[in-house]
Amino acid sequence: MYLNFKQFQFMPLIAPSVLAADFANLQRDCEMLNASAADWFHIDIMDGVFVPNISFGMPVLEAIQRHAKKPLDVHLMIVQPERYVETFKKLGAEVITVHYEACPHLHRNIQQIKDLGCKAGVALNPHTPISVLEDVIADIDLALIMSVNPGFGGQKFIENTYAKVSKLKEMITKSGSKAVIEIDGGVNSINAPKLASAGADVLVAGSFVFNSDNPIQTIADLKK
Ligand code: DX5
Ligand code: ZN
Repeated sequence: MYLNFKQFQFMPLIAPSVLAADFANLQRDCEMLNASAADWFHIDIMDGVFVPNISFGMPVLEAIQRHAKKPLDVHLMIVQPERYVETFKKLGAEVITVHYEACPHLHRNIQQIKDLGCKAGVALNPHTPISVLEDVIADIDLALIMSVNPGFGGQKFIENTYAKVSKLKEMITKSGSKAVIEIDGGVNSINAPKLASAGADVLVAGSFVFNSDNPIQTIADLKK
């Protein structure tokens, strides 16, 4: 059974980033997310080439999959993602997002992800203009706007993101695309409502959730 976006009321969805979880207590943290109002598990895969950091790979995702009871939203910060998307699909990925900056044959990457039966997302770095999505906006299910430079959790939110969300929302409306807008990096309770009113559908939050005293409450508050 494949993820059907129609089952969600995008208002917005909250996708906590497992990168900020306690890896020595991964099962506990996955169960916490299962019990919370979180909608998706956001999974950050970094290769140390496209981004200056290495996060985790297949064995960890396999462990997450065993405990997660919500859709896995896999954000690939890697070069040549076409080499791995099939494996990520086998490991439970329902949304697979690749970076525009890492994909010279982006259209082919998108088709490959869709042919596997996954939702296809494209992510843009903070310096990349929305306009590069014009010729694929009709093909994608999700556009991810990075609100920090990819590679690390816990960075400061970039304020220019609001303007990018508004522009993207306009492009999506004009083109008739069904793509949803996801924001990733530095999301907190201050910027979340502003992002939602600018048109964001999915908010990723890592450190703000996992470093809080009560992550379940923090997730519930973000959804408001
Ligand atoms: C950054 C990752 C983010 C990160 C978000 O490269 O893509 O998903 O984990 O973490 P916070 O919310 O701490 O910025
Ligand atoms: Zn991410």
